[in-house]
Amino acid sequence: MLDKLERLPADTILGLAAACRADPNPAKVDLTIGIYMDEQGLCPVFEAVRQAQQALVAEELTKAYMPPAGDEAFIQGMQRLLLGEGSSALRDQRVGSVQAPGGCGALRIGAEIIRAAAPDARVWVSDPTWPVHFPLLGSVGLRFATYRYYDPAGHDVNFDAMVEDLKQATAGDVVLLHGCCHNPCGADLSLEQWAVVADMAARQGFTPFIDFAYQGLGDGLEQDAAGLRLMVERVPELIVAASCSKNMGLYRERVGLALFVCRDEANAQALVSQALVAARRIYSMPPAHGALLAGRILSSPALTSSWRSELEAMCRRINGLRSGLRLKLEQASGRDFGFIEKEKGMFSFLGLSTEQALRLRRDYSVYMLDSSRINVAGVNAANIDYLARAVAAVL
Ligand code: LMR
Repeated sequence: MLDKLERLPADTILGLAAACRADPNPAKVDLTIGIYMDEQGLCPVFEAVRQAQQALVAEELTKAYMPPAGDEAFIQGMQRLLLGEGSSALRDQRVGSVQAPGGCGALRIGAEIIRAAAPDARVWVSDPTWPVHFPLLGSVGLRFATYRYYDPAGHDVNFDAMVEDLKQATAGDVVLLHGCCHNPCGADLSLEQWAVVADMAARQGFTPFIDFAYQGLGDGLEQDAAGLRLMVERVPELIVAASCSKNMGLYRERVGLALFVCRDEANAQALVSQALVAARRIYSMPPAHGALLAGRILSSPALTSSWRSELEAMCRRINGLRSGLRLKLEQASGRDFGFIEKEKGMFSFLGLSTEQALRLRRDYSVYMLDSSRINVAGVNAANIDYLARAVAAVL
């Protein structure tokens, strides 16, 4: 039976990261997978995570299963982080959440809920979007529709086109939005644009589903949540898939949260019960370690403050790299790369053709996705000149 199965190609992002790791060229530049890297090219462990981990290891009394919904300190802390301390939805107890294995697990739980509520739902995704949205949501049986989002020529959000396309989204449809730091393009909605989409959701009845994997890496924890919070004030229901991979550096620990803002408390409890049944069907209960660390950080003022200041430094560094890269690329090529400085978070498209991206890989060991998506956090003082010269050479 099993010998009929064929070997499949590696995942585009993970496969490319592996190819870069295997490249022996000492000048190679890894701009592939979205992990934060410091000046030394390492993905660091936050000091707050280190401290929480030492305390957890010293104090942990059991490895018995986690409660099905996850760690309560983590859930409470994340809800406040996402929705804000003064959130009226939290005050009215119309929010329900479950811990999930990473942002991907949260997206999958969200998809299961959508499928249970509306088996024929269409999920509107931005063009472009993170490629893994398709298998994560599609494997549950949801259908997709696409709304125009990024204009490659103008290097910006084509908001008129987005609005035009989303006019077709109706009650029973879901619109997947990137909470901040759009992956792959880095071009985010302004607060005014969020307000327009929120009003469309309220008027047309579609349900927003917000993938929120980069809070704190655009402009800051609070600023990055402004669009989501505005949406929560204006629409009766929405789903959030949040991740602590990037903003707490807990990538391999798989720490995520599926959060539901509902009409009322009873509906919130119903959705949590549905999410727990879905989780039991797929992986039973969430992993403990990372969420226990995040829960400790979010419930300790000292650890929260340490974590926040380290995250702010990362965010400043990314924005500094954006300015630096713009300058170097413009000097090397004589072209305008101002959009890199305007975009947010880890990713931007350089605006190269697939052929140019492949030449960079082959001739210079500069690794970016075929779409020319780069992880800005892979740039550092040691590689920025080489990178800019290489890009200019293939233009
Ligand atoms: C990325 O887009 O590179 C990250 O979100 C990591 C991943 O799992 O693809």
